[in-house]
Amino acid sequence: MSFASELEHIAALVEARLDQLLKPEPAGGTRANELAQAMRYAVLGGGKRLRPFLLINSARLFGVPEAASLDAAAALECVHCYSLVHDDLPAMDDDSLRRGLPTAHIAFGEATAILAGDALLTFAFEILSGDGAHPDPAVRVTLIGLLAKASGWRGMALGQALDLAAERQPFTAADIAFMQAMKTGALFQFACDAGAVLGRADGEARAQLAAYATALGQAFQLADDLLDEEGSAEALGKAVAKDAHRGKATLVALLGVGGAKARLAALVDEADKALAPFGENAEMLKETARFIAQRRA
Ligand code: IPE
Ligand code: IPE
Ligand code: MG
Ligand code: MG
Ligand code: MG
Repeated sequence: MSFASELEHIAALVEARLDQLLKPEPAGGTRANELAQAMRYAVLGGGKRLRPFLLINSARLFGVPEAASLDAAAALECVHCYSLVHDDLPAMDDDSLRRGLPTAHIAFGEATAILAGDALLTFAFEILSGDGAHPDPAVRVTLIGLLAKASGWRGMALGQALDLAAERQPFTAADIAFMQAMKTGALFQFACDAGAVLGRADGEARAQLAAYATALGQAFQLADDLLDEEGSAEALGKAVAKDAHRGKATLVALLGVGGAKARLAALVDEADKALAPFGENAEMLKETARFIAQRRA
């Protein structure tokens, strides 16, 4: 299967599972429905589903069929979508366009958007605690612990806090790399590691995959920052040219577009090398690194 059709296939699977998981109407009438609607709005009908793609393809490396890694992938996507809803809030990046539509707080109001984000974060753990995530409760607990760490005060939330702090104080290249490893890298790390955990991979394989995820997370945020500088809002479905305007600390600001592109190419190579021990089985993951560096949408 080609990379493009595999990405499309996984996106459709994840979309259908998330739709199913978010289906039951909550008790409490119209007001409760508004929260559920905001959650569905934030999660369904868009997004590349790249983190689920990575999780499912990492698990596949260890012989796990996609149906068996789908719930963990859906849980991860819930955390990602929550992070986008909060990232777009006026108190954070203050964005009004996401995935080609008005951001959640524009569509539903700030309070409902904040709550939808909160509820998506906790829903992720509800999904991971269910039988569908893995038949062995010990594996489920491991996944829950890993996702909690990746999302929280030593992971994505820390990275987002540093991203905001960087608007007010100078950041070195090393500071930026750490901030990006947290805000973006942590969920990429979880994606790959969760696949390895589901496949009961040994420590060596987990470490090798972690090296890939580290390079990939850095490459992903660097590409996102380059697209903010050079991309089109129409293709991306979100506003561009906002990072420089807001004084965001990015490697594009520090190294220039040329320097950032050279760094991106080096990261793709790094990701590729980390996968060498997996041989041909890792072709889809190698393609992912190339896709990240080349994408325009
Ligand atoms: C955007 O992530 C947020 C960053 C970490 C840069 P994606 O580019 O994966 O967003 P979607 O899910 O495809 O919309
Ligand atoms: C967002 O980074 C990272 C997270 C949501 C954790 P950005 O702020 O650069 O993402 P976009 O450009 O708004 O998608
Ligand atoms: Mg941000
Ligand atoms: Mg943003
Ligand atoms: Mg960005």
